[in-house]
Amino acid sequence: MPTGDKLQLWGGRFETGPSAIFESFSGSLHFDKRLADCDIRGSQAFARALQRVGILTAEESAALVAAFDEMRVEAREAAFYEGATDEDVHTLIIRKLKGKVAGLADKIHTGRSRNEQVSLDTRLWLREAIDETRALLKALMTELLALARRHQNAVIPGYTHLRRAQPVLWAHYCLAYFEMFARDDERLAQARARVNVCPLGSGALAGSGFPFDREAIARDLGFDAITRNSMDVSGDRDWVLDYLYAASTLMLHLSRLSEDWILYSSDEFAWMDLGDGVTSGSSLMPQKKNPDSLELIRGKCGRVFGSLTSLFITVKGTPMTYNRDMQEDKEPLFIAADQLNGSLAMIAEVTRTVVLKPEAPAEAAEVSWAVATDVAEALARNGTPFHLAHKLAGKLVLHSLQNGIKPADWTPEKLAAFAPELTGEMAALMNPAEGMKSRQVPGGTAPEQVARALAEAEARLVNIGV
Ligand code: ARG
Repeated sequence: MPTGDKLQLWGGRFETGPSAIFESFSGSLHFDKRLADCDIRGSQAFARALQRVGILTAEESAALVAAFDEMRVEAREAAFYEGATDEDVHTLIIRKLKGKVAGLADKIHTGRSRNEQVSLDTRLWLREAIDETRALLKALMTELLALARRHQNAVIPGYTHLRRAQPVLWAHYCLAYFEMFARDDERLAQARARVNVCPLGSGALAGSGFPFDREAIARDLGFDAITRNSMDVSGDRDWVLDYLYAASTLMLHLSRLSEDWILYSSDEFAWMDLGDGVTSGSSLMPQKKNPDSLELIRGKCGRVFGSLTSLFITVKGTPMTYNRDMQEDKEPLFIAADQLNGSLAMIAEVTRTVVLKPEAPAEAAEVSWAVATDVAEALARNGTPFHLAHKLAGKLVLHSLQNGIKPADWTPEKLAAFAPELTGEMAALMNPAEGMKSRQVPGGTAPEQVARALAEAEARLVNIGV
């Protein structure tokens, strides 16, 4: 490891310094430098807290806060980190502070431990990352509702087992994803509530020896509450896991939507065209237009789910309280947040530019006998016991398939000739848009229900991400 500029916050009880291999193996600056701004803001609040307990005078505290203000600007530039070989971001920030206010900087760590500091910084960082994720999610949900509105009355076959099952409205399908995303937003909000608790004052594990007004520090940094147990602060990362779980579930939903649209935009389905701006071609096959954006979202699930699994395993079996293992929490967190936020922005653009070709799914719904359930249920409404109705509708399908008859070929007369129970109005049910009108229960695909659900979803958007 090249020896650059570095500080060490410990060392008095050692006869020799750390070996080069240990320094390079244990250092976290190359990834935890992303916490620099949070570390500085936390230290500013801590300088104010040190004034309140009489360790710093008002002037000293103001001088530290001002030095940190300068540093916040500098820390946005790559030059701030050049040549730094401090073991972590907390050490780097203190070294930089010494460069600005030498003697005073020696007081900043009074009654504070890096164990609580890393919890604080990660909470501040994650609180903002969650807000960003939720804003991106809201943008996606807005695009999804616009897409539903563009084709509000388009009919598609709904699938089970990837076999055409029953006709539904395209808007109903879009709203299914809206519901999944609405729950994702709830999970993110719940994760945020657990993140947004202030650990400062916990010390290394036993609580600070200085009489900090912890509520005041929490208010200063915009936290809703203070943590209740100092050992818990040092030893636990379940609030990171909460986010990683919420992130994983959201990625899962993005992956399923991606998979749908990879299929629906294929030549075999031909329901939709993906925008040129979100697809790519082949270096060899001139005709290709590949759905790489959606494939990458599906693929990135591996890294996000992997992050959740990785942190579970990292924390499992660590004895109370802090162990250096915990340093391994940050890379999975950063990977998951980056990949999730990137995927959300990407899929919002795919949603904005996708063009549905409604004739294709309408035709697919029609020729596939997806209306068979409507016929069976109409028979049951007329008094035929459902099991018999199911059998009769099944016979109608079998006969039609064997003789090349399409649903639309069935006139009232032909139906009556096939079976007397098949009354005239059942011919109308051969149109997939017809039978769905009976699905009037809340949450069903009847056009009035979908129109209501769509309007409600648009109104609910106001509460997403806040
Ligand atoms: N880099 C460490 C982490 O991320 C900082 C915390 C304290 N380090 C220590 N050796 N007690 O967890």
